[in-house]
Amino acid sequence: MGGMRNLRNTLLCLAASAAASASLASTPAEDLLRSRLPEIFAKAAAHYKALDAAATPLADKGGKGMMQVPHGYDRKSGRLDMRDVNWWTTGHYPGSLWYLYEATGDGFFRDRAMWWTNLLEPNKDDSSHHDTGFMMYCSYGNARRILKTDEFDGILLATAKSLSKRFNGKLGVIRSWGKISDTKHFLVIPDNMMNLELLEWAGKNGFKEADAIARSHATKTMANHFREDGGTYHVLDYSLKDGRVQGIERGQGASCFTAWSRGQAWAIYGYTMMYRETGDAAYLDFAQKVADFAIANENMPADGVPWWDFGAPGEERDSSAAAIMASGLLELQKYAPKDMAGIYRAFAVKQLLSLAGPEYFSEGDEAGHWLLKHGVGHKPAGTEIDTPLDYGDYYFLEALLRFRALGD
Ligand code: GLY
Repeated sequence: MGGMRNLRNTLLCLAASAAASASLASTPAEDLLRSRLPEIFAKAAAHYKALDAAATPLADKGGKGMMQVPHGYDRKSGRLDMRDVNWWTTGHYPGSLWYLYEATGDGFFRDRAMWWTNLLEPNKDDSSHHDTGFMMYCSYGNARRILKTDEFDGILLATAKSLSKRFNGKLGVIRSWGKISDTKHFLVIPDNMMNLELLEWAGKNGFKEADAIARSHATKTMANHFREDGGTYHVLDYSLKDGRVQGIERGQGASCFTAWSRGQAWAIYGYTMMYRETGDAAYLDFAQKVADFAIANENMPADGVPWWDFGAPGEERDSSAAAIMASGLLELQKYAPKDMAGIYRAFAVKQLLSLAGPEYFSEGDEAGHWLLKHGVGHKPAGTEIDTPLDYGDYYFLEALLRFRALGD
């Protein structure tokens, strides 16, 4: 507890010595970012038009009878990395197109977003992993919201029902990875918090039990998945016999003793979203706790773009973690007490200015026309290290739109 109090005090001192950034009035950094938005969205739009032209002819070239969606870029071969529609990130590319439609009003993006979104329908019946929340809510969920239509509600409700089959009532959590039939292991990761947004939507739209499932998962995860200082574990293995945590695995992180940056970012975003959806103050407090861990971390670089793991300073940065964090913090600052709100907002603006700068925002086709360079997918597995990632772009665009909306 003392550690957390000190962390909060450190943040409050920072705020006091930077009075301008602690105020909710616009700051020079915000003014700069706001002045750059038209140019950033124009550059992003040009990138995605080129990306879409390259990706569309490849969509049916998968070879396994499954359509494919762009996911990343292979620097060695200079080729787009396309993934089958059942890959966990396939909602992000159409989601980015929806955001670009919102950002620019250009009908090209609406039409292309719809085309790619429609490819994902088969995922509605998939109960083999937890990521269908990401896949379908970033695509169909945005289509529903932006087009103001209930046309996709059946698909979204079916997806929520498939996802909820992975919930275990005795344990109170959703199984992230592994077969539903596995009785020895029950693996849960903080990324799963993101899939609860679909369940919260479903709970308010005809599938009532989904809300209880989402709350149970979030509450149990809050109790078990984080250290005293707010840092996250990646993989917990629950025992189906007695409900205890029987194992901790490093998963995509550097170790069991450090916090994987993207997992931490998922938690910041996920608990903020759960507060928005439920009004439960415990989730708001917890969102602040996990945010404070990241912001005040001694290993957080000055530009606000974290190392891929908080325990791996000097290795690669993860631009996707920064983008997810920025988007989460821009929402968190709306609900947090005023003294902390200015800090969250200023930190998110710093992250967005960094991501929109030459170190991270790609030029020409150097990153296959993806927006953000320097993402890390799964370093322990040796895959996707220092590379663009579809979800990095998605949350970057979302954060920019959230920032733009602050001025509306
Ligand atoms: N959900 C897996 C990841 O964030 O890489």
